[in-house]
This record gives sequence, structure tokens and C-alpha cells, in this order.
Amino acid sequence: MELTLTRPDDWHLHVRDTDALTTVIPHTARQFARAIIMPNLQPPVTTTKQALAYHQRILAAVPDGVHFTPLMTLYLTDQTTADDIIEAQASNRVQAVKLYPAGATTNSAAGVTEISKTWGALESMEEQGLPLLVHAEVTDPEIDVFDREQVFIDRHLQPLTQRFPQLKVVLEHVTTREGVQFVSSAPDTVAATITAHHLLLNRNAMFKGGLQPHSYCLPVLKRELHREALLAAAISGNRKFFLGTDSAPHTRERKESACGCAGIYTAHAALELYAQAFEDADALQQLEGFASHFGADFYGLPRNTDQITLVKKDWQVPDSYPLMGSALVPLFAGETLHWQVKAGSTD
Ligand code: DOR
Ligand code: ZN
Repeated sequence: MELTLTRPDDWHLHVRDTDALTTVIPHTARQFARAIIMPNLQPPVTTTKQALAYHQRILAAVPDGVHFTPLMTLYLTDQTTADDIIEAQASNRVQAVKLYPAGATTNSAAGVTEISKTWGALESMEEQGLPLLVHAEVTDPEIDVFDREQVFIDRHLQPLTQRFPQLKVVLEHVTTREGVQFVSSAPDTVAATITAHHLLLNRNAMFKGGLQPHSYCLPVLKRELHREALLAAAISGNRKFFLGTDSAPHTRERKESACGCAGIYTAHAALELYAQAFEDADALQQLEGFASHFGADFYGLPRNTDQITLVKKDWQVPDSYPLMGSALVPLFAGETLHWQVKAGSTD
């Protein structure tokens, strides 16, 4: 069995920098035409100048003969000004701005301490039509880690979308039924990305037979009822929900540690994993809209015109890939997947 789709884009991706790029960029560029590149480097990508330089470093890691366009983002801080936004928009390379609540996740220490401090920047983004991408979790230690998305929506996201009604907002990596409901009932300016791992796994995966650091990410995997709500949204044909892997590479040492980093690596098999989730839900015909159309439409970018073909064929995920002199353990390492992207598939 084969499935041919318009070439997809990844609307949420971490590729890191320097030597890591040579491992992870080929994985993404093999299947996706474009990807929204997250700015949580150390130091973070807070200026257009930094974003343009990072863009060049990513392009240098794209294999010869492969067409891949990194779509750059800025990292929002308490200090981001309206002028920073105008400069970003004028660059034609910066496609969005990412809001990390300070302390919410990996490399978020320089993030936003209080959303009201960003109102000047948000007003400018609303005017310029530059989307805001939100890591929607409160950092309040009093709030249970499984409730942080819902509380963020109630306390911050709902009021923000009311204050800036024209601002395009993406609730990144939505993980809860409440998140899906919020996005579904919000105006058309509000959308969400959904990861493959949140479609395929519930929180039991973190504890299967013992503590499983490679199934730990943020927002953390949730109960089965939330996974079901995400899957229903992804296969619904609702144009507000589109593909964003949140593939997040870390070395084995940083994952298998007394204090392991958050992040699940899925770029090695991204489209294959989504195809599995959609097939399990008997909804393969809905994959193209979700993976290849709705994200581009939301961002106001042209849809890709070439194609990619998936084949129903078993293959074994490697135990690891080399990363920065260490190893990168991908999702489903050593296991068999049932879909495979046909090499070199194009128009
Ligand atoms: O699991 C995650 N990993 N969630 C994030 O929000 C950040 C990401 C990373 O950069 O490793
Ligand atoms: Zn992310």
C-alpha cells in the first residue's frame, strides 16, 4: 500500500546548533519542505541578526540536492520591543515569535516572567501579522504538572486572545482535552500544533517497566482521555490543528540522568509516526490536510507543490544516532515501524 501526499511541513522543531545540525537536519529535510525552528538555543535567538545567522548555519547542514527551508523564530523576552518586531517582520525570514514562560522548559530561563511585560511587542506583532507561538504551561510550583496547560489557558491564554483579537496565536504542542476545546471554540486567529508522540502515547509510557527517560517531554504526556481528544482533533479535518513534531534532540547522557532533560526525538521518523497514528484511527485520508495544508494556510504561506510517498513497509528504528560525540536515542529505538517514506519521492 502507498500513500502520496503534498510534501508536508513541520510547524514546531528543535534542531539545536553546531555539530548537532549535521545529524538532525538531514532527518527533517528528508521529508519536510519547511520547518518552524525553535529559538531556545543557549543563548536564545532574541534578535533578527541572530536568527539570520542561525538560518545560514542550518542551511549549511542541508544535504546537497535537498530543498529545505528553515522558517525562523525569535525568542520573546521581557525586553523585546516593538522595533525588534518591526525588524523581524521586515527580514522576511522571521515567521513567528515564541513565548516561553521563564522556567517552563529546556533553555527557558530567559523567557517571559510576566506576560504584561510583553504587551508592547504583542501589539506590534498584531499589527505586523507576525504569529505568537506559545508554550502554554504555568510554572507555578503549586500547580500539578499535569494541570499546567489548562491553568495557563485559563489564566493567560484566554485573556491574551481577548486583549489582542487580531493576533495570530498557536497553542504549541497541545496536550489536553481542555486545550483542544479552547482552540476549537476560539476565533480563527487561534490554532494548535500536535506532536506525533502525544498522538501515539499516554503517560503510562513514562513508567512502562520502570522509569523511561526517553518518553519524558514537556508538556508531559497525559492520560489516555487526553490522547484520544488530540487524535480526534488531528483527524477531524479542522484546519486549526496541524503538524508540529516538537522533535527535541538531547544526548543520551542528558536524558539518562538523575535529572533528565525534557524532549522526545521524532525527526528520524516523523511522518511515518503520524501515518501510524492516523491509520490506527482509520483516518489516513485526513493526513494530508493536517500535515501539508492547514499549517501553511494558517501562516499565510503557499502550500508545497511537490509530493512525498509513504509505503506500508516494516523497518527497524536504529538503537541510536550519533550526536555531538555521544548518542541520540530516538522514539521507538530498536522497534519496528510500519510506514516508510519512499526515498527521493518528489513531484
Ligand atoms: O520536551 C521538550 N523539549 N519540551 C520543550 O518545551 C522544549 C524541548 C527542548 O528544547 O528540548
Ligand atoms: Zn518545543
